[in-house]
Amino acid sequence: MQAIAKILPARTPVASLAALTFLAGVGGMAMSFIFLSSDHPLDVMAGAAGFIAGAILAAGGLISISVQRPTLLAGEQTATNDLSAFGPPLAVGRWLTHFQSNRENRPEPDWCVPMTLPAEVVRPLVKSLEQFQLGDGGGPAYLIARNREEFLSANEGTRALVDLWFAEEREHARLLGAAVARFGGRCIQSHWSFTAFCLMRQWFGVRFELTVLLLTEVVSTVYYRLLRRHGEDAALRSMCRLIIRDETGHVAFHRDRLARAARAGSASFGIWWGIRFRLLGLTAASVLWVSHAAGLRALGATRSEFYRDVWHELSRFIRRLQRESAEDAEVNLREKGSRRCVPTQEHVLE
Ligand SMILES: [Fe+2]
Ligand SMILES: [Fe+2]
Repeated sequence: MQAIAKILPARTPVASLAALTFLAGVGGMAMSFIFLSSDHPLDVMAGAAGFIAGAILAAGGLISISVQRPTLLAGEQTATNDLSAFGPPLAVGRWLTHFQSNRENRPEPDWCVPMTLPAEVVRPLVKSLEQFQLGDGGGPAYLIARNREEFLSANEGTRALVDLWFAEEREHARLLGAAVARFGGRCIQSHWSFTAFCLMRQWFGVRFELTVLLLTEVVSTVYYRLLRRHGEDAALRSMCRLIIRDETGHVAFHRDRLARAARAGSASFGIWWGIRFRLLGLTAASVLWVSHAAGLRALGATRSEFYRDVWHELSRFIRRLQRESAEDAEVNLREKGSRRCVPTQEHVLE
């Protein structure tokens, strides 16, 4: 206990204890998903018990955090924050240019090209695509947190950029709907996991919603990469290429937004934040894996491949955010301009 006390900031012992409780719960839930996805009944039972215990711990920690410090999960706010609640204005011109130029050169996948995937692969794949169609722009494709106006009206241009961001999400739903139709499925209107996802976004506020959406985009990118890598279908691969391109831009948009806040002194993203971000990311990844493992495995992807790629994406995001947060804003703008934020072909093909 003395060693823990030295690590934790002395002025926030209760908040730190709550955060530790939450992290222990999230870690337990993340570990339990690994067992839940096993084929062995004893592993599944152990996973279920671990999930319940982890959920109780995480809920206790979350309640305590939300009472004391609602922003803890969404990034460290500095004590001397006299700026906007969401940091400095976004680079509106740069991102408007990005979203507008991203509408060009978007060849529609050839949905009529002959199918080569066998039926036993298509069955679980189309179930997975149906769920993704609902979650990736098919449901309420906008910020839905009860206090979203705080973010949308914080700075001029924010609302316009969020509109463009979610316009691309709706395009993903359209593409996924075409893929579902190609493989003989039907778009669904609701799913328990998506309902729980939306309730969480509404309840915990816009800071948490932005973090959750960012994590979802990071792990979804891995899902689309696996589909593209293993899915022997020209239309599926063309669709994934387009969506990965967009999601790479969305993740870069969030990174730029957070790095600008850090450079302005209204947020910091140190080791402690990185640990929380990884744990939340692994939890999001585990939820995705449980729901979509059958489709991914049918194509030939493996659990270790999925988690390895998720870890790589999370590490890359943290590394780049910390590097960009440390850069001097003036030097950064002069030397790199818009090049840093806009995803390059190299990023998309990684
Ligand atoms: Fe999307
Ligand atoms: Fe996205």
